[in-house]
Amino acid sequence: MPLDEITVSAPATIANLGPGYDIIGMALDRPRDILRVALQRGGMDTIEVKGHGSEALTIPAERNACVVAGRAVLERAGAEGYRLKMWLDKGVPPRMGMGSSGASSAAGAFAVNALLGYPLDQMQVLRCAMEGERASCGSAHADNVAPALIGGITAITGYEPLNVIKLPPVEGTAVVEVNPRIELAEEKTKLAREVLPSSVPLGKVVGQMEAFASLLLGIVQKDAALMGRGISGDVIIEPARAKLIKGFNDVKRAAIQEGAHGATISGAGPTVFALTPSEMADVVGKAMVKAFSANSVKSTYAVYQCSQEGTKIV
Ligand code: HSE
Repeated sequence: MPLDEITVSAPATIANLGPGYDIIGMALDRPRDILRVALQRGGMDTIEVKGHGSEALTIPAERNACVVAGRAVLERAGAEGYRLKMWLDKGVPPRMGMGSSGASSAAGAFAVNALLGYPLDQMQVLRCAMEGERASCGSAHADNVAPALIGGITAITGYEPLNVIKLPPVEGTAVVEVNPRIELAEEKTKLAREVLPSSVPLGKVVGQMEAFASLLLGIVQKDAALMGRGISGDVIIEPARAKLIKGFNDVKRAAIQEGAHGATISGAGPTVFALTPSEMADVVGKAMVKAFSANSVKSTYAVYQCSQEGTKIV
């Protein structure tokens, strides 16, 4: 017997962690999107959005990531006759590189699957959440939606068929996110993907594999310094996107100088993040804000933890 209504929440995430472009992501302990969903027999799909940056989310319901992901579940579950009524409270700021569309997509897919009595398994729900990402930026990557849905650090080991492995956080570390106040393009992620090179020389591929190996083995072996070297070692994606973030190289340098294990762009940016020893997080955050300021960019920082919790019923 399906439920009538449900409220769920889904966390902010950091995608890529440097060289893990479209593969690796991490769930944060906050902020969260909170979504209430009801199923109806008639009418249209609707969504009311409030909260962080909601004034910028004026797209019609049928293109909203939350609705698209929820409708994908209805269709996959053979329940497309239902209409969705959604109320979304945005906790994750849109277009900052903190997985805003990923959180909304994961919440939409998870909530509708729960309302229907869990007809889909976790990988099927993830597929549906990826459709929300596609609606949001034109690409159905899973490195935000996977950690948003299942928590922890996630590694996508295959898109066809879809397979995700969840890894635990590295103890004793914190994540510093520094949000610069810079002008953002309407389709920020789409633009940040368009600046990437379509082909790269073999030497760079080798460099990227080195960084990816450091990142993944650092996580698996719980070696924060090695993980940090991996985060900082992206030689393909970060250099192409750094140009979009005024002062990026100075901010990254400041983080490392002050004792961060590693630093790079958070997702598609413009937020810059650092992995730090827990006790160094504030020192690193302040140094990063100062470095942005020296480039005439105002910014704020906040300290987070990697969270094992993904999307959940509240
Ligand atoms: N992997 C994605 C990117 C994450 O870097 O474009 C942002 O959605």
